[in-house]
Amino acid sequence: MAARTPDELPAELVLDDGARYPAIWLRDNCTCAGCVVPGSAGSGQKLFGITDLPPDLRIESADREAGTVRVVFAPDGHQARYDLAWLAARRPGLAVPPDDRAEDSKRLWEAADLADRLPGAEWEAFTGEPAERARCLEALLTLGFVLLRGVPAGDRAVLDVARSFGYVRETNYGELFEVRVEENPANLAFSSLPITPHTDNPYREPVPTIQLLHCLANAASGGDSGLVDGFRAAAALRRARPAALDLLARTPVTFRYADEHADLTATAPLIGVDPIGRIRSIRFNNRSMCPVALAAGQLPAFYAAYRAFAELLSAPAAQLNLRLEPGDCLVFDNTRILHARTGFTAGGRRHLQGCYADLDSAASALAVLRRGR
Ligand code: FE2
Repeated sequence: MAARTPDELPAELVLDDGARYPAIWLRDNCTCAGCVVPGSAGSGQKLFGITDLPPDLRIESADREAGTVRVVFAPDGHQARYDLAWLAARRPGLAVPPDDRAEDSKRLWEAADLADRLPGAEWEAFTGEPAERARCLEALLTLGFVLLRGVPAGDRAVLDVARSFGYVRETNYGELFEVRVEENPANLAFSSLPITPHTDNPYREPVPTIQLLHCLANAASGGDSGLVDGFRAAAALRRARPAALDLLARTPVTFRYADEHADLTATAPLIGVDPIGRIRSIRFNNRSMCPVALAAGQLPAFYAAYRAFAELLSAPAAQLNLRLEPGDCLVFDNTRILHARTGFTAGGRRHLQGCYADLDSAASALAVLRRGR
């Protein structure tokens, strides 16, 4: 019998259970010593690029061997071996891509869900016990915040907290920023006025993805902190008014902050969704929002959607209220959790130090801790 020409060969591997694996997908995931850095099977550092592969790949042959399948590709005769369990777990079309930043990796909440059991730990346990640290980082990633208590109420201690799981994101405000009453505040955060729920630094791209607030003194009456789950509010908006969610996700909004030394702008939607529609980020800050650049006919619908989202965010049931005491350090996801502050009496002393860090390092720290389990 004459050898089959390449276009008579199958373009995909079909396993007994009907799972289909296109040849190009298989080849792109070959882990032979010629295709990935030896010893890097875990991270799969590839030694080739897509343009190095033949464009018309086919399956020359496929043979089952003890829990694996050995594939020979045409036209170049390259050989690869795949673990069947590995293939089954990655069956094309089986699952949406995992993304620890998207809503389906989160536990959405409203105030009543957490009011009597705030996720948190004592600082000493957090630093000394890997299991406690893992539990706290998991809370930060799934609930969006964690409260560490008993952090020494000293100057710059907030930086130690950030460095315990990641890296400080220095900005034009410096390594850290002070939140206390000031005489002529450049920023509302430094006044004694109440501040409605917002995310920080929406005028920056990339936005700082974690914020830390460490309480050094809180003798003022008022000055309580509030947290709101922005993903939950966005999901509620989608249920009640899908067109409103869609409009907010598709409308770029510019945010700006300017002072003597800085002039920062960034443009992004109030609700960010990923390419398959999952809620993935919230940018919400009325103080630094610039005029929305839409056609006149579209602006009323935008404002109606913006108002509906703001109403969900400011609903009393949405906001978890807590009072930070000296030594408390709140760590939260600034792409999801909005924070607020009630007004306070300028007479009583209230002093917080804050800084920024990033979620990728926190997620990495957690993944490494889990390896050890
Ligand atoms: Fe803030």
